[in-house]
Amino acid sequence: MRRLEGKSALITGAARGIGRAFAEAYAREGATVAIGDINLGGAEEAAAAIGQGAHAVRLDVTDQTSIEAAVRAVEERRGGIDILVNNAALFDLAPVVEITRESYDRLFAVNVAGTLFTLQAAARSMVARGKGGKIINMASQAGRRGEALVAVYCATKAAVISLTQSAGLDLIKHGINVNAIAPGVVDGEHWDGVDALFARHECLRPGEKKTQVAAAVPYGRMGTAQDLTGMAIFLASAEADYIVAQTYNVDGGNWMS
Ligand SMILES: NC(=O)c1ccc[n+]([C@@H]2O[C@H](COP(=O)([O-])OP(=O)(O)OC[C@H]3O[C@@H](n4cnc5c(N)ncnc54)[C@H](O)[C@@H]3O)[C@@H](O)[C@H]2O)c1
Repeated sequence: MRRLEGKSALITGAARGIGRAFAEAYAREGATVAIGDINLGGAEEAAAAIGQGAHAVRLDVTDQTSIEAAVRAVEERRGGIDILVNNAALFDLAPVVEITRESYDRLFAVNVAGTLFTLQAAARSMVARGKGGKIINMASQAGRRGEALVAVYCATKAAVISLTQSAGLDLIKHGINVNAIAPGVVDGEHWDGVDALFARHECLRPGEKKTQVAAAVPYGRMGTAQDLTGMAIFLASAEADYIVAQTYNVDGGNWMS
């Protein structure tokens, strides 16, 4: 029995990394998946590799016209959206005295405004259709507490946790569950970039930051995107109908709440 049989999902930022792993997992569970990404070539490549009803959608979550067009495209192709995963995000790192307004605006535009207004567009579509839905936001352990060099990214992920609570409380009356996943440190292309940024700011050798963060995880290693798919499937399924406005840590024990 596949857990998402017949469901239509839209996953933002799914051309690579965690979003792509979610797209693969949802397709295996019987959903059709729209892979929305600013990197359309990457999204098309991911959709072709997945097959099984996956398709690419051009989506820039900082652009309201693009968000609305992507939602419309999924409605027209699949009859509606049952599941939205707000996964697209950017990372940056700087000591507080070096943070630039450009970096702040860029991260808040994608991670916070992008999450809110994609959630809003999908929720409007779900409300009009009258069948409820599931919305999953990607938060982070970074949203649970500050980090010396990561002030802006941490603040964006704290905002994602807060938006999940408010939207979750507001939308459950329409049968729409809004919840979030807070990963810890997940290896992949994203963390290759994070490692390089830490190397520059902390005078480390390439790969050294990854070794440090892996050693600090109680489970004993960095996470993989596959470590997160179980929670992503569960929160998208009917088994999560009574779960509202929560953020779940899936981080090998890095953070407890
Ligand atoms: N990797 C980790 O260690 C980690 C830890 C905690 C939380 N997270 C969160 O999980 C999510 C996925 O992380 P990841 O490691 O797969 O990241 P990633 O950088 O590998 O992938 C992000 C994707 O988002 C897309 N994207 C960027 N800007 C966009 C925009 N404006 N519109 C649409 N798409 C856009 C990129 O093209 C890319 O495909 C993010 O929300 C991230 O903050 C990741």
